[in-house]
Amino acid sequence: MIFSFQYIFLIQNSKPYSEKGRRASSSRTYERKRTFPYFCGMELQNDLLIRAAGGAPVHRPPVWLMRQAGRILPEYRALRAGLPDFKSLVESPDLAAEATVQPVDALGVDAAILFSDILVVPEAMGLAYEMVESKGPFFKQTIRSATEVEALRTGADAAASLRYVYQAIHEALKRLDGRTPLIGFAGAPWTILAYMVEGQGSKTFSKAKAFLYQEPALAHRLLEKITSATIAYLEEQVRCGVHLVQLFDSWAGILGPEQYRLFSAPYIDRICGALESVPVTVFAKGAWFALEDFSVMDCQVVGLDWTIPPDEARKAVGPEKILQGNLDPCQLYAPPEKVMQATRVMLGQFGRRHIANLGHGVYPDTPLDGVRAFVEAVKSYSYSS
Ligand code: CP3
Repeated sequence: MIFSFQYIFLIQNSKPYSEKGRRASSSRTYERKRTFPYFCGMELQNDLLIRAAGGAPVHRPPVWLMRQAGRILPEYRALRAGLPDFKSLVESPDLAAEATVQPVDALGVDAAILFSDILVVPEAMGLAYEMVESKGPFFKQTIRSATEVEALRTGADAAASLRYVYQAIHEALKRLDGRTPLIGFAGAPWTILAYMVEGQGSKTFSKAKAFLYQEPALAHRLLEKITSATIAYLEEQVRCGVHLVQLFDSWAGILGPEQYRLFSAPYIDRICGALESVPVTVFAKGAWFALEDFSVMDCQVVGLDWTIPPDEARKAVGPEKILQGNLDPCQLYAPPEKVMQATRVMLGQFGRRHIANLGHGVYPDTPLDGVRAFVEAVKSYSYSS
């Protein structure tokens, strides 16, 4: 049976987000109907995440972990051991689908997140990355000049080269067989620019930040191109059947509030506005200062890192948004009973309109017992208790 839910959102909205950044705040609220269909004609056995993201009543919060696919499971290591490198796994739809579904089988989480990487987008635009073993991403070529920016592919042209991702989505949906929703994702434009200019991970991303100060117009041109490629890419993920989309702005907190309002928030706003049929989560690590900006964006869920107390986040985003997060990933190194206790405290602090998660991706050496205790604490929780 194919069916759809209609959820009504009260969204504070009046004017488009200005290029300068912050939207003029409005006290006017209006009702807007959004339809979140179930895709591929497949009924979901566990639709807790979709219901929670849509603001529908749930008996407990759904739970999943950022970076659950690939970092922690022995099953993943076994899969990876048979392959020459990370990219060959990302680019093999069947194996990527297997890595996607592993955490659902092994941990009993309420959602799967696609096994891929945010760096497939710069590659689709023409800037290939390497994943250097135990070091991280590396770009042989970086972006500095207008000629280099102009040479990049964008929009549907860029998204067309990511067929292996779309095939992985089809394969993952087949394997999930409706057991849980599938989350699609992309990097936020600023975080993608940071890698394209810096060329690799960095503590300061000072080359990428310097680019914003030295070449603001060119930075905006590059952000435009990344945004348009990202919209086309996410739209295709949605057409393929992902149920929810998350934007990772991992390097948000490296910008100050003013720079963030100029160079990141408006582009996130544009992506949120373009994705109409699925809930969108914005996770901007370290950007406590941008929570008010997110409150007026067309996203349903706001992800939080562990440095923001739930009540402060709620005050900043207002009563409507669903909050996601935010247990310190290092809490999972504690003995399992401590993990359960801390998780229950966190759930109590958030109350309803919450999706349980960590405040950032789970670290590779996290004990599985800690991860299981976290999942178990959420699954045995009840709002009525
Ligand atoms: O959430 C999931 O489990 C889905 C898979 C996923 C990966 N990367 C797989 C991956 C997701 C959602 C990402 C997003 C991603 N990639 C982000 C945003 C999230 C965050 O952590 O802030 C960033 C910044 C990247 C870029 C990236 N990819 C880095 C810095 C690294 C090296 C360090 C590391 O292990 O994360 C990667 C490699 C990568 N991406 C791995 C995995 C499973 C490790 C590869 C391996 O050795 O097997």
